[in-house]
Amino acid sequence: METSETFIDSLLRQLPFDIGTDEFVQNPYRFYDEARRASGPVHRTPSGDVVVLGYFEARAVLSDPRFGHGARTAQDRTGYGVPARTFLLTDPPGHTRQRERVRRAFTAREMLSLRRRIGDVAAGLVREAARSGTADVVADVARPLSARVVGDLIGVPEDLRDRFAQAAALLVRGMDPPGLIAPDTRERIARARVWLARDIGAALRRPAGAGILRALARGADGRPARAETVATCAQLVAAGYETTVGLIGNGMHALLQHPDQLAWLTAGGHSEQACAAAVEELLRYDPPIQLAPRCALVDADIAGTPVPRGTVVFVLLGAANRDPRAFPEPHRLRLDRQPRHLAFGLGAHYCLGAALSRLEATAALTHLLARRPRPTGHPVSYSPARIARSIQSLHVRLDPAEGHRGSVAAER
Ligand code: HEM
Repeated sequence: METSETFIDSLLRQLPFDIGTDEFVQNPYRFYDEARRASGPVHRTPSGDVVVLGYFEARAVLSDPRFGHGARTAQDRTGYGVPARTFLLTDPPGHTRQRERVRRAFTAREMLSLRRRIGDVAAGLVREAARSGTADVVADVARPLSARVVGDLIGVPEDLRDRFAQAAALLVRGMDPPGLIAPDTRERIARARVWLARDIGAALRRPAGAGILRALARGADGRPARAETVATCAQLVAAGYETTVGLIGNGMHALLQHPDQLAWLTAGGHSEQACAAAVEELLRYDPPIQLAPRCALVDADIAGTPVPRGTVVFVLLGAANRDPRAFPEPHRLRLDRQPRHLAFGLGAHYCLGAALSRLEATAALTHLLARRPRPTGHPVSYSPARIARSIQSLHVRLDPAEGHRGSVAAER
């Protein structure tokens, strides 16, 4: 187990607030606000690194090629929970080449073909979950939906699906500063990395593979590029499973917390189209990934603040999404906004799974709203993870029979 301090670990000492507390897990936005009020949109840490809290500054960093991963954030990747050589932590031109190989699986045509399947899976899960009149949105709908959709897309063999889902939950936890993770959980994360890599290797060797695994197994020149392929698949598992679970759980919770907005959406017939628009505000309001790290590859600046080469820049996506300069009344969920949020990042590393997650969340929401979700009074529990933010269980009452449901079928 690694013991030296990673750049992610340095977050614990350098941020102007303590992310180790339960208060932070419950509501990080209060802390972001206080920090932004105290130091403005760009905060300089005691060691000279930088924390970006402002929306415009976050956009500037993420879309500026002077900021990438370079040596510090890329080499020091142990806290990120993904193996080396993954393109999330590489810079062009290597990044561009690796990303292109995976991007082909996420084309608009591919998404269109997945849309019906996602709708059917979501409908079935919600129907089953609603049978008894109460359900856990996360355990009964979000998690199995995400596992099936991403499992299909990647081409995870049936017998390995549960293991991949378990690994995904652990890898996401492994993105946090190791100092915040109990030693036994760190051991489990380390073991999961090893067996996930082994399982991916085994799946790649099967002749009748499917999805991205099969496409990647062939390699660019027809021969498998093994280490890179395994790393890419592991990254898709880490990036793809739990994030969408977070979006559906956090999003449903936000709606229950804002009954006026829930009523507004429901009154409009909660069509698939209206739910798709609502998902954008839900992504702004409580994004499942809170931090995107970067490193200054050359001497650069952020909105005039000099940032010497080698400086680590922590872009707080959750803080940027609540910057009052960009979003008036940022702490209010307002479904009539059309927010240009940063939940999926921006620039060269913009999330490849954005369209897929949007489809999943829209389908889940459309079918859940058709059964009039109401709070049960059961407390909500959050995952202890800090960089990923997701509700772990969200109990709701649901009508066993579906009410009027916009135009899900008609729009297909
Ligand atoms: C609501 C769900 C999701 C959220 C909030 C999310 C968020 C993000 C963010 C913020 C980044 C950029 C990180 C950075 O710039 O450092 C990213 C990158 C990425 N995401 Fe997602 N993601 C989601 C779902 C997915 C899914 C479902 C997949 C795949 C099945 C996926 C695959 C990826 C990949 C491959 C990258 C790396 C892209 C690159 O480095 O070029 N994501 N995601």
